[in-house]
Amino acid sequence: MEQLVIDGGHALSGTVKISGAKNAALPMLASTLLAQGTFRLQNVPNLKDVSTFIKLLEELDFSFKKEDNGDLLVDSSGLSCHEAPYELVRKMRASVLVLGPLVARLGKAKVALPGGCAIGARPIDFHLKGLELMGAKLKLQKGYVEAKARRLSGARIFFDIPSVTATENLMMAACLAKGTTVIENAAKEPEVTDLGRMLKAMGAKIRGLGTETITIEGVKELSPAQWKIIPDRIETGTYLMAVGAAGGKLRIENTVPSHMEAVMQKLRDAGLTIDIREPDTIMVKRRKNLRSVDVRTQPYPGFPTDLQAQMMVLMAIAGKLSVITEIIFENRFMHVAELRRLGADIKIEGRSAIVRGVSSLTGAPVMATDLRASACLVLAALAAKGTTTVGGLHHLDRGYEKMDIKLAAAGARIRRVALATEEPE
Ligand code: UD1
Repeated sequence: MEQLVIDGGHALSGTVKISGAKNAALPMLASTLLAQGTFRLQNVPNLKDVSTFIKLLEELDFSFKKEDNGDLLVDSSGLSCHEAPYELVRKMRASVLVLGPLVARLGKAKVALPGGCAIGARPIDFHLKGLELMGAKLKLQKGYVEAKARRLSGARIFFDIPSVTATENLMMAACLAKGTTVIENAAKEPEVTDLGRMLKAMGAKIRGLGTETITIEGVKELSPAQWKIIPDRIETGTYLMAVGAAGGKLRIENTVPSHMEAVMQKLRDAGLTIDIREPDTIMVKRRKNLRSVDVRTQPYPGFPTDLQAQMMVLMAIAGKLSVITEIIFENRFMHVAELRRLGADIKIEGRSAIVRGVSSLTGAPVMATDLRASACLVLAALAAKGTTTVGGLHHLDRGYEKMDIKLAAAGARIRRVALATEEPE
């Protein structure tokens, strides 16, 4: 067990390089199920979730090689097994992304049902309904979904609300289906578009990426491809907000500013100075006190739910009153109780958090409850007076590559220490 020890109140300065996007890397690894041969993936982030997905594909007889330049070679030739076991799916919900590609390629799949998680029930009914519409026969038993189809056929699929992984799962499945599939109210997240572009590089026929209607004309076969994963926009937003929390300035490199429009606008309204000087670089500075702004999470291009917890830190030390409304997940305020331990004044009313800014936070021991909550606590610790310890680092390491090292290089007083005793459950 490890924890972070952070002495707050030190302004940031320097450069942070953004890693490849976790939420693009995972569906791309799943997409390698669709073709036989060796893929080359570039800019793959070194994260626990990525290694869990690799382990899952190894269970399906894939082999992997990491090259000296960081490229990941994925060899899918050995694919024979069609089962994703519960031990791996329960560690990471995104494992469900193998379902569509497996049925499309092998005609069958057996994937553990992910169940709920810390931020809500998170059902996968859209994934299942879509596959049924494409002709798959589904059986739910003993905690697994079993899907069978000799060959999937094209279908019209309409989502009640746009779902990122359901769009990805069904788009992948549709690539090898017979006929045309139309996904209406599809997710427009850049990670979905990046996956679609990779699928096109593999020979898929897809139109409408980045819009709410994605049309896929099925083909008989796809071939392996080389693909460079887009930078992580949630990591980018987290470092923009780290400057909001700690003060100072940062040069954030290897990012895509156009993916950050909603976030940058909110942060400018909150008083940060943000400039784009080069196509892949954002300069961010906090010169004055933060201003309170209201925030509503939305599907892309709106403000992302994955940055809601981090934004709350800024509002906790901003001038007045802010209302943060979580639209996407019903239980994504687990970080509030921990922020209160640092002195934040936050009340939850239904889907909204009412945040009254305080003049400063004070260090205390806190525990991360989920991935983005862990980043929120690191940011709160940077803002707080005195020392904060952050436990539950397995959450942080799932989705942030070397966050402590990147922050320390930018002037934060942060160190990772091993704990002699076990943390409580
Ligand atoms: C993805 C991201 C996650 C992000 C989320 C929302 C990955 C690996 N994860 O998760 O980081 O927080 O998008 O941007 O990319 N829903 C249903 N039934 C379904 C599927 C979804 O009701 O079958 C609901 C969910 O409960 C939620 C909403 O749809 O309320 C959107 O969730 P979704 O986009 O599916 O999230 P994920 O793809 O799981």
